[in-house]
Amino acid sequence: MRRLSLILMPAAIILALVAGYFIWHAGDDLPALDRNVETGSAAIGGPFTLIDQNGVKRSSADFRGKFMLVYFGYSYCPDVCPTTLALMADAIDRLGHKGDAIVPVFITIDPERDTPAKLKPYVASFGPRFVGLTGDLKSIKKVADLYRVYIKKEPLENGNYAMDHSSVIYLMGPDGKFVGYWDDTSVGPDKLAAALKKLI
Ligand code: NI
Repeated sequence: MRRLSLILMPAAIILALVAGYFIWHAGDDLPALDRNVETGSAAIGGPFTLIDQNGVKRSSADFRGKFMLVYFGYSYCPDVCPTTLALMADAIDRLGHKGDAIVPVFITIDPERDTPAKLKPYVASFGPRFVGLTGDLKSIKKVADLYRVYIKKEPLENGNYAMDHSSVIYLMGPDGKFVGYWDDTSVGPDKLAAALKKLI
């Protein structure tokens, strides 16, 4: 009995390690996403009516038939937002003509400063595909709540403010329904492109 457990214990440990390794690495290609696709009907997203970078009213229904790759942030963000928007643009470009099925959408969480005029050159700097959306504070708060985005205004010593916010890329289907998300936006463009390719 004792001898048997001496053999079985290391075997069980090795088995657990091997299984753990595969579970760990299964998530590499699709961080967070795989799990959410499997569990399905997460209540993320919903209808919105906002204003785009050209000052045109845009509603969620206008995007039906296309995938939306949605990111919430603000143009004054010094690091995370520009890095993530560049990643989204890069990943979509890597899909070639298939990428045309995806509209990258940047929704500001700082509508006080991010007017359409401010958003226009900002989103253009990430490529011509981007739609930048702003609106009144109430509409922005509503859409952020629908996507469960965390937002907190942080006053700075110089009298300005920063916006603390969650950094999540959402993929919404042509029917407007939630497909999946990446909360680790450090995923590289290759991995993001490969994941998108499987999903669109
Ligand atoms: Ni940011």
